[in-house]
Parts: sequence; structure tokens; C-alpha cells
Amino acid sequence: MYDGDIASVLITEQQIGEKVAELAKQVADDYPENGTDLVLVGVLKGAVMFMTDFARALPVPVQLEFMAVSSYGSATSSSGVVRILKDLDRDIAGRDVVIVEDIIDSGLTLSWLLKNLASRNPKSLEVVTLLRKPDAVKVDVPVKYVGFEIPNEFVVGYGLDFAERYRDLPYIGTLDPKVYTS
Ligand code: XMP
Ligand code: MG
Repeated sequence: MYDGDIASVLITEQQIGEKVAELAKQVADDYPENGTDLVLVGVLKGAVMFMTDFARALPVPVQLEFMAVSSYGSATSSSGVVRILKDLDRDIAGRDVVIVEDIIDSGLTLSWLLKNLASRNPKSLEVVTLLRKPDAVKVDVPVKYVGFEIPNEFVVGYGLDFAERYRDLPYIGTLDPKVYTS
């Protein structure tokens, strides 16, 4: 599948599985069951694979919400100007909320999302991201749970796309430059 498009496998399916379990344990330890379900907010579409695996790995009850946002900018970098394409279906006031992200690059998207969700008065608001790139340190966004720190390369797979392709790969890999230069 996608023969020759993937230059290298950065994170294998097994490594992802182990990390998801580890992150789920950390989060579960921090949210003892108190009669109110945790609300996971997945950011479409990239976080979908992580969200579904993470929700099933968590040993505490969760409710699933999704948001779709688009940041104005090029296909591979964001500007921090964000538009909501799909909002939450429910009110999160008074709820423990965890944003589930696939990747934090500049951090601009997340910084905007945190402000937006915080203004809806959740009881608590944290972030779990599977991947974080080095530039993320430039914007001060508090991310409590991070899966892997990765180099500054464009990656695809496990939800992450290039031109809507490769999301269905079970691992995370780097794209051969021929794909975006041809
Ligand atoms: P910022 O820069 O706001 O952007 O943190 C986060 C969003 O940018 C996209 N992004 C990527 N998508 N491979 C991708 O498929 C990458 O290497 C990559 N880096 C950033 C992604 O949509 C993410 O939510
Ligand atoms: Mg994308």
C-alpha cells in the first residue's frame, strides 16, 4: 500500500499501541471516577485514530466529542487564525475535558482551541497529544500528556494525512519528498 511513498517508518504500530496504553494509564490515574464522565474532545480529522484507540484504552468512562477547525495558512503550516467548521454537540461547562490532538507543530491551533474551550467554563481542561514537534516550544501551550517528541519532519499515517491520503496507515512514517515535489 502506498508503495514507495513512505521514506521511513518513524513509529511502528506496536510502539503506538504501547504509548496509547501508557498515556491512558496516566490520564486514568489523574481522573478518578467521580460520577461525572470525562469528556474527550477530538480534533478532526487527524486525531480520529488516536481518539478511538485512546478512548478504548482508558479504564474510566468517557464521552466523545469532536471539533473540526481549519487554520488559515498553507497545507503544511498554520497561521493561528482559526475557523470552526464543526463545533461540539454539547455544553462542557462544569466538565472535566481533555483535548485529544494528533500532533502539535507550531502550537498555534491548540493555543486558540484552549482559549476557545476555556471560555465555556469547563471544570478542568487538559491536552493529550500523540506527537509533538520541536517548534511547539515557541508557543507557551500547557500540554500535560505527550506521546512522542518527533523531529521537524512532515509525517503521515495513523490519522495524519498529506492531501487527505495516508491517514489509514497503521504506523507513522515520513513522506518521500517525491510525493510533494511531483
Ligand atoms: P500547529 O502548527 O497549529 O498545527 O500546531 C497543528 C496541525 O498542523 C498539521 N500538521 C501536520 N499534519 N503531518 C501532518 O499530517 C505533519 O507532520 C504535521 N505537522 C503539522 C496537523 O493538522 C495539526 O493538527
Ligand atoms: Mg492535515
